[in-house]
Amino acid sequence: MGIESTLLIVKPDGVERGLVGEILVRIERKGYRIEKMQGMRITEELAGRHYAEHKGKPFYDELIEYITGGLSVVVLFRGENAIENVRVIMGATDPLDATPGSIRGAYATSVTHNLVHGSDSAASAEREIELFFGQAASA
Ligand code: RTP
Ligand code: MG
Repeated sequence: MGIESTLLIVKPDGVERGLVGEILVRIERKGYRIEKMQGMRITEELAGRHYAEHKGKPFYDELIEYITGGLSVVVLFRGENAIENVRVIMGATDPLDATPGSIRGAYATSVTHNLVHGSDSAASAEREIELFFGQAASA
């Protein structure tokens, strides 16, 4: 709660499909500011650290292959209740469950290729911002 920072990733399918602007504008218009942003191809090492909680799950290998398979755009957003609100704007993990007005509900069809990542808690946000932008950025 309060003013928060959160990490958003437009995953490779979002970049490939030309949806970066569409995705970021929804979050900006809700009231969040871009503080940092970088385009990068996420390495296997970084992907493994980012998604460490999913290691051993049936979808893990497919997830790593997907997230490392092309250019991603990594963004630090900041504002009032940013962590929870960005998750709401993204929609549920499975696009079939995501509300039509959400990013995943509007533009995704696959539970794996679901366009975006957003930090799911204050602890995740701090960890992920440190991972992608370095410690100074997470304050
Ligand atoms: P994210 O971490 O990317 O923001 O997604 P999330 O919190 O909504 O979902 P999470 O449970 O953390 O899953 C991470 C990503 O793994 C892929 N996934 N595939 N095939 C499957 O059953 C499955 N389940 C998850 C998705 O790309 C999901 O976003
Ligand atoms: Mg997650």
